[in-house]
Amino acid sequence: MAIIAPDIGIDLGTSNTLVHVRKKGVQINEPTLLIVTGSEKRTIKAIGQDALALVGRTSAGDVAIRPLQDGTVKDFDLTEIILRYFIRKAIGVSHLVKPRVYITVPSRISPVEKRVIREAAASAGARKNAIHLIDKPFASALGSGLPVFEPEGSMVVDIGGGTTEVAVIALGGIVLSRSIPHGGIKMDNVIIDLIKHEHNMLIGDRMAEDIKIDWGSALPSSDERKVVVRGRDLITGLPQTAEIASSRFYAALQEPCQKILDTIREILDKTPPELCSDILRKGIFLVGGGSQLYGLDRFLASELNLPITLAKDPMMTAVNGVGTMAEHSELLQKLIRSNFLRDDNA
Ligand SMILES: Nc1ncnc2c1ncn2[C@@H]1O[C@H](COP(=O)(O)OP(=O)(O)OP(=O)(O)O)[C@@H](O)[C@H]1O
Ligand SMILES: [Mg+2]
Repeated sequence: MAIIAPDIGIDLGTSNTLVHVRKKGVQINEPTLLIVTGSEKRTIKAIGQDALALVGRTSAGDVAIRPLQDGTVKDFDLTEIILRYFIRKAIGVSHLVKPRVYITVPSRISPVEKRVIREAAASAGARKNAIHLIDKPFASALGSGLPVFEPEGSMVVDIGGGTTEVAVIALGGIVLSRSIPHGGIKMDNVIIDLIKHEHNMLIGDRMAEDIKIDWGSALPSSDERKVVVRGRDLITGLPQTAEIASSRFYAALQEPCQKILDTIREILDKTPPELCSDILRKGIFLVGGGSQLYGLDRFLASELNLPITLAKDPMMTAVNGVGTMAEHSELLQKLIRSNFLRDDNA
């Protein structure tokens, strides 16, 4: 039995949670999802991967819950439960000294929300005075190997499930950032709305996500296809199928793509000229699962006239960043010196 638990890095995402354990690498990569039954006294039926496997197959009274919404904690108790479950699954329970934990948070998080995450992590098994909140775009930049501690500016755009964060990073911290509650889940929702309005049909979240991944596009295509979609008729409630032209998905996804573009433009406008010239030279780094929407990198490149680099493994960059922190304890001192963690443990 190890007496001291290893340092761990957690990317607590709206859609997925990943845990990196020092010297072992990423040990957990599961949906941030629980199946819960009962309303007053809730019982947890399944967590993470097991919960996802049950979606659509649950009995009456069961609900699938994502305890985070738009990147922030919506349900404190379930966040604590899911964190405890993942921490135990990653490192076990047999340590006398609890682990130091680096955990990602949205950059627009309020002091109250920070306290909520810190308390959830502490009651989930993290060492109380060793919980370090790391801004997601910073974690992603570090995890992508960008020169985050140099005076040079880098721009990271993280399109997650619940949020899109646009940030300029230099000298060990975030120079400026903007976070909008538009990510992959909003993209799924525009597909659900499209099918509701044009076909009077309701489709499930997973079907919408599959359509987005298989047929969604940020660019118009010359190769029009007919996609067969299964759902439930809104009036009769009966199962129904519809044939939808793939270009309709492109049309619906224009709005979320445009919102991401507008946010990048806004941040570029506000970026100090020296850092801006670094960004114009190096381009923008796209990370997060939503950045894999077909053609999104080319759409942004042509609209902004800037080089866009899509990360090799875009859903892993943030956990790789907090994982790097967990592997190299000297980086914590560097962050504290750069005043980046000034209000940590507040
Ligand atoms: N190939 C793909 N094309 C489009 N979207 C994708 C693809 N693969 C995954 N996604 C989307 O990526 C999103 C999840 O990304 P990610 O795991 O980075 O989010 P998260 O970190 O949990 O959320 P957040 O950072 O907003 O809290 C989901 O909405 C998913 O549908
Ligand atoms: Mg994320």
